[in-house]
Parts: sequence; structure tokens; C-alpha cells
Amino acid sequence: MFLDTANIKEIKDATKMGVFRGVTTNPTILLKENTPRVKKIKEILDLSVGLVYVQCIGKTVEERLKDCEDILSLDSETRIGLKVPMDITGLEVVKLLKQKNPDHRILGTAIYSADQGIFAALAGCNSIAPYINRMSNNDLDPYKAVSIIRDFIDERQLNCEILGASFKNTNQVIQTLASGAHSVTIPYNIFEKMMNKELAVSAIETFNRHGEMLKEKY
Ligand code: G3P
Repeated sequence: MFLDTANIKEIKDATKMGVFRGVTTNPTILLKENTPRVKKIKEILDLSVGLVYVQCIGKTVEERLKDCEDILSLDSETRIGLKVPMDITGLEVVKLLKQKNPDHRILGTAIYSADQGIFAALAGCNSIAPYINRMSNNDLDPYKAVSIIRDFIDERQLNCEILGASFKNTNQVIQTLASGAHSVTIPYNIFEKMMNKELAVSAIETFNRHGEMLKEKY
């Protein structure tokens, strides 16, 4: 599991339990924090919460590669993952990044179809992020796409993980995992909804109340 946020409080709150492998960001997520990218990413790195994915921007291969260099210069260790948007330009960026250093962790992002996912896996992305809610909003079947990509990866034994992204409800998360995603990146509010279910919270309150009553009685 990854946490899809750049909010420091959310990251601190959610990573205490040790169930998240790291954090994913994108320019939109970073913009919400009203802090320059360099400053925010350094703040997140200071929390030592595992892998921190940062997305490169740029229209051309050269612009994206330059941005990847800027991103990687933020940390001397290997705690930064590169998110590369998956269009034709992105495929070339992945190839060149991997040629330069096969150890870079690359997440192919902005995936709206099985087609893109398949090419991203072939290009050498370590993981790929199909956008579940955004696909649904555009009358595309995200679960079918995830399942096709997963079969493609498994049949060819490619070294690529599916990291489902873009969630607006908990059912989307579970369906994505059930369709073959290896993992997911979720916003903090979805994490809360997944764990603090009304029924569970109410049952726990009842157990606590009965536990106290038991103490008083005996
Ligand atoms: O990780 C990608 C994801 O953040 C996109 O999510 O909510 O903008 O569709 P969303």
C-alpha cells in the first residue's frame, strides 16, 4: 500500500502503523499544499516513510529527463521513485532513465487503458498506475484494464507491479485488488473509510462499554 498525498499531517498519521510502503505525489497533489515542490518533498523525505514518488513534468523527452534529474538531486539515497506520465514521450523517457541507471524505481502513471499499461510494462517501468476512478468517470472499465495488464505481465514474467491509483470510494480499492493489482495508492480519507467502518466503530464502542460494565460489576 502507498499513501497518495503530500500532506505532512496525513503522512504522519497514516504511516505510524507501518502498513504503507511509501508516498505517491503528483503536481496536482503538491499544488494543494501551497509549498514549493523542493521544500515539500524534502519535508516528506525527512519523515523517513519509505519510498517517495515524485512525478516529472515536461512536454519533450529532454524536459522530462531534466526534471527527473532535478527530482533525483533532492536525495542522495535511493528513497525517491520517479513517476513518468505514460504517453509515447514517456516511453522514451523510461528507456533512457533505465539505460542510465537500471536501479531507478520508475512508476508509469496517468494510465487510462490496458494499452498504455502493456507498453509501460514492456518499457521497463517497475510499476504502473492505472487511474481507476478517472477511467470509470469516462465510461471505461478500469477492472478489465487491470486484469488484462496483470495477465500480460504474468504470462511474460515481466518485472512490473500494478499500483492502482485514483480512488474515490473503498469499493474501487477492493475491486482493483481483486482484479489483479499488486498494490494500490490511496488518499488518507479512503484509508480512514477502509478502517474506521461505522459498523466496526460502533461494535468496538459497545465492547468497550460492556468491558467497563464488567469491571464495575465484578
Ligand atoms: O496517484 C494518481 C492519483 O493521484 C490521481 O488521482 O484523485 O486525481 O483522480 P485523482
